[in-house]
Amino acid sequence: MNGPSLAYRVREATSSLRVRLGAVPSVGIILGSGLGPIADEVEDPVAIPYTEIPHFAVSTVPGHSGDFVAGLLDEVPVAILRGRVHYYEGYSLQQVTFPVRVLRRLGAATLIITSAAGGLNEAYRTGDLMVLRDHINLPGLAGLNPLVGPDEPELGVRFLDLTDSYDAALRVRALGLGAELSLSIHEGVYAAVAGPSFETRAEVRYLRAIGADAVGMSTAPEVIVARHERMRVLGLSVITNVAEPGAADDEVSHEGVLSVAEQSEPGLRGIIRGIVRELGAEG
Ligand code: HPA
Repeated sequence: MNGPSLAYRVREATSSLRVRLGAVPSVGIILGSGLGPIADEVEDPVAIPYTEIPHFAVSTVPGHSGDFVAGLLDEVPVAILRGRVHYYEGYSLQQVTFPVRVLRRLGAATLIITSAAGGLNEAYRTGDLMVLRDHINLPGLAGLNPLVGPDEPELGVRFLDLTDSYDAALRVRALGLGAELSLSIHEGVYAAVAGPSFETRAEVRYLRAIGADAVGMSTAPEVIVARHERMRVLGLSVITNVAEPGAADDEVSHEGVLSVAEQSEPGLRGIIRGIVRELGAEG
């Protein structure tokens, strides 16, 4: 590839943000479709549009505004990516995952990553939450992995182990917080697809058969890069629709996904705040 190396671009973006931030963030948070409001609860916020950050791609999807918000959540310094870019917008997976590397370089040791997802598990209902136990990265298995490219040892290892990528202790805490908040919450496997088309009925049957509980168009590439950067990861999805291969009138739309995500956002926010508080107490 021509132009500056990925490591160089990450350094440039990190330096440009560092001079504008008050505190070193210890937790990074990525907010998916319709899940932005927690960023409004950040105290002493510094909000920087992606357009002002070197090498950041700008989202084109309604519901993903696209700014970097740093500040305090329950006294804990956090950095939030409000809006993300997706592979289906035409960006490379390196562009999609670039902000995760910047979060790590700014100091965030933990990544909380949220998304909207379609429910596949028959016990899941619209509006439920899912804590990710693992993922199946279908584009990755077919050759679309964000780590494809020149080896840059400064960024991480060439051959990355992804066993137990979703931190067990954080999963237990998230499920516990969900129960305390009386939320309908599950732990399951997230199947990542490229999108932007939703799944056919046959694909839904296939995804169930391979052990997926929910399906979405994001998350897996970012989690791979977070693990490449040796971050602890917590993945949370809002089940915005349930795929029922046998049902007649179950059309999925982006508007429907956004509207359910917005309705379930307060519960998700409660879990994120609880986790951030506990991480802050751990020091
Ligand atoms: N499929 C893929 N991605 C999604 C879905 C879905 O049903 N719902 C929300 N994101």
